[in-house]
Amino acid sequence: MLSYQHAYHAGNLADVHKHALLAWALDYLTAKDKPLSYIETHAGRGLYDLAGPEADKTGEAAAGIARAEGWLPADHPYRRRLAEVRAMQGASAYPGSPLIAAASLREGDVMHLCELHPQEFRALQATMAPWGAHVRQEDGLTAALALTPPTPRRGLMLIDPSWEVKSDYDRLPQIIAKVAKRWNVGIIALWYPILLDVPHVPMLAALEREFPQGLRSEVRFPPIRAGHRMAGSGMFIVNPPFGMAEEAARLLAVFEAHRR
Ligand SMILES: C[S@@+](CC[C@H](N)C(=O)[O-])C[C@H]1O[C@@H](n2cnc3c(N)ncnc32)[C@H](O)[C@@H]1O
Repeated sequence: MLSYQHAYHAGNLADVHKHALLAWALDYLTAKDKPLSYIETHAGRGLYDLAGPEADKTGEAAAGIARAEGWLPADHPYRRRLAEVRAMQGASAYPGSPLIAAASLREGDVMHLCELHPQEFRALQATMAPWGAHVRQEDGLTAALALTPPTPRRGLMLIDPSWEVKSDYDRLPQIIAKVAKRWNVGIIALWYPILLDVPHVPMLAALEREFPQGLRSEVRFPPIRAGHRMAGSGMFIVNPPFGMAEEAARLLAVFEAHRR
């Protein structure tokens, strides 16, 4: 039974970290005049309203993007995507990763999005159909294997689970190793939470053994409320594009400068 709904967390500091890296990577990839594939295994609904009751209930966006947007330069690809989506959808709109990707891609690029939750899937379909995305109500990790290697072969896969299934920590290094074997040129980005009881640590050890050239980007922030277990945000990237380590270092410096 899926209970996670990203609407409660959209625009939090973990999203700022993840979406800033994603927008940067897609900006880099689209600078070259060659088509690409974007695959997302756990897409969410694609578009969020930060004036809605979910964001209001948790206050995560208020402590996240509302504070952090100015931490980044105005011409950062993430800020450009935010501005484009607000111009289309209104001032309180916040793009999920599928919409950040859609706003980054060009004609001829291909998008595959997976979302299992029926309500989230329907919302995703409604938001992303006009962008020509292939939207599937399927298990994202099964689809990750079925969809690779994609055509065009160049591209990026974002794996952003809700981490409700604890066995994902064990399964993901194995699944990513299989995907990377089938798609050796693909950039594979896995987002994970940094939790106080550190379940991500053995998973990262396995990923770093399998991919010694992988990039690990982590930022820390105080838990959003007393008793909340998330103390930071992490992304492990297989085949990181040129310059992504430097972008990760810039983001780390920005988060550290505003940590309180
Ligand atoms: C963290 S949210 C995605 C947020 C989105 N990537 C973003 O940054 O805007 C994770 C999503 O995965 C969905 N989900 C959970 N298990 C799944 C599975 N096995 N396959 C596909 N989607 C799944 C949840 O319903 C939820 O919408």
